[in-house]
Amino acid sequence: MESAKKLLESLWVYGVAAAVDVPPTVEDTRRAVEAVAPIMHTTFGDIAAFEANLERADTAYTSEYIGLHTDNTYWTQPAGYNAYDRAEMSTIETDKVYEVYSAYQKLGRAITEPSREFQIKLQPGTTLFIDNFRVLHARKAFDGRRVMIFAYVLRDEFLSRLKVAGVFSGL
Ligand SMILES: [Fe+2]
Repeated sequence: MESAKKLLESLWVYGVAAAVDVPPTVEDTRRAVEAVAPIMHTTFGDIAAFEANLERADTAYTSEYIGLHTDNTYWTQPAGYNAYDRAEMSTIETDKVYEVYSAYQKLGRAITEPSREFQIKLQPGTTLFIDNFRVLHARKAFDGRRVMIFAYVLRDEFLSRLKVAGVFSGL
């Protein structure tokens, strides 16, 4: 499927990709996601829809602003790390902690530089893919009802698809 290869290439090159004109249903979104990789089974199920109804104790289930982050860093096979879900630094000497936080602060400034930001208002029918290892995402506060369908894929499955599709030859 040529469109699947284009999604994979965009994800590999830019860390993001979008499929448009996907009927905004769970099953149609499932087919769009599975063009990239099999859907991962998580504590959310495999693919699910959610809205700002406080069903879970998670900011995603609100309409509040959410700053830059990657998802699911608390899983055993996480998609990356972020400022909200870091563990204590028990693997470095105490006198090195200041250096780490100083570097972390510089990294944070570089990441949040507005010139590196891209904003998009999602519309029903757009499936947005984000490489959680490379690209952070955020959300502005919103009013009204918004239903989001989401799923995750394992990075190893994604890398496998890239290689099988001939998008890259590494690993
Ligand atoms: Fe998120």
